[in-house]
Amino acid sequence: MAKPLFELKDVYFSYMGKFPALCGVNLTIEEGAKVCVIGANGTGKSTILNMLDGLIFAGSGSMKAFDRNITSGVMSEPGFSRVFRKSVGFVFQNPDAQLFCPSVKEDIMFGPLQLGVQLDKIKKGVDIIANRLKINNLLNRQPHQLSIGEKKKVSIACVMAVEPDVFLLDEPTAGLDPATTRDIIDILLEENMAGKTIVTATHDMHIVGEISDIAHVLGRNKKIIRSAVPDEILLDCEFLKDNNLVHVHRHMHDGRIHAHPHLHTEHH
Ligand SMILES: Nc1ncnc2c1ncn2[C@@H]1O[C@H](COP(=O)(O)OP(=O)(O)O)[C@@H](O)[C@H]1O
Ligand SMILES: [Mg+2]
Repeated sequence: MAKPLFELKDVYFSYMGKFPALCGVNLTIEEGAKVCVIGANGTGKSTILNMLDGLIFAGSGSMKAFDRNITSGVMSEPGFSRVFRKSVGFVFQNPDAQLFCPSVKEDIMFGPLQLGVQLDKIKKGVDIIANRLKINNLLNRQPHQLSIGEKKKVSIACVMAVEPDVFLLDEPTAGLDPATTRDIIDILLEENMAGKTIVTATHDMHIVGEISDIAHVLGRNKKIIRSAVPDEILLDCEFLKDNNLVHVHRHMHDGRIHAHPHLHTEHH
């Protein structure tokens, strides 16, 4: 069995001590794994990713990462925090939270510059990444002028530039067209084939089968209620309906309006 990279044990977390976001989460993520965290809005997906990225800490219970118990104290040890930041890359749901430089190129260079990588190595890396993500034409553009899909690709490029071992992705394909979604999934699958751990939070059921070997479902109770191979979950219509992961659509049948659940896995 692969080595556990992250281990959450009975984790509780509340924002400002009064808004519960995780209520007894147990989750193990192994090195090189490809996993999804799925669940309806507000079930705690982003909170889990924030915790995996060492931005917030378990209120009770514990999170282990890289064989250390992660606390604010451990994350402020300069040595550990540097290794952690180099190892774990987080693509935020909102790319505007990630892009702040005057040009796309500078944004992509920012992470490796902070980590003290040599400039010529960084420049070569930018070209390689821009080719892979097909964003060469955007390098001299201002990030805030880009479309949402372009911004998403640039955010992923920024994280790839740091060459992390673990990619945390919060709704990476939300609002993207099918071709851009395809490009992003292909890049993530390539990274996984190269040994990287990929953790994706999503409620886009279309991508779950490809982007994960195991899917963890968060329920309304803000804990993981099921962990299984994606097909098992995607084929369980009742379970998906109970957990708000399917639409109920209205259609005309024989001149009458008729409502029935409609899987996100079926393309519209
Ligand atoms: N900054 C915040 N302050 C207060 N409550 C928050 C904050 N962020 C999230 N929450 C609450 O925590 C719960 C989990 O949120 P979140 O992790 O964002 O869910 P998801 O990503 O699955 O939509 C929700 O009930 C949400 O209202
Ligand atoms: Mg979220």
